[in-house]
Amino acid sequence: MIRLCVLDEIPLGMARPFVVGGTKIAIYRTREEQVFAVADRCPHKGGPLSDGMLAGDQIVCPLHAFRFDRNSGSCDQPHVCPVTAYPVSVQNGIVSVDM
Ligand code: FES
Repeated sequence: MIRLCVLDEIPLGMARPFVVGGTKIAIYRTREEQVFAVADRCPHKGGPLSDGMLAGDQIVCPLHAFRFDRNSGSCDQPHVCPVTAYPVSVQNGIVSVDM
């Protein structure tokens, strides 16, 4: 696991971008205190998912509003590849990701 930040650096209901080993990822923190990570590049046309919004269990891309399931990464539009999701852990307030 790679340590990224202190949990409180990610505002509730929002995401923050990180670069890990040259890969851009978006770490989301839900209002229910769940934390998850996806690639920070929309599979559609490369939109920054760290600037997206949460709608229930879905991430809404800021460019064209396609939605991606935060668990499976699948898209709500046909013929769009899923976004890559990464395992995340939070221990003692430290957020880590497994790439
Ligand atoms: S770039 Fe994300 S929906 Fe188009």
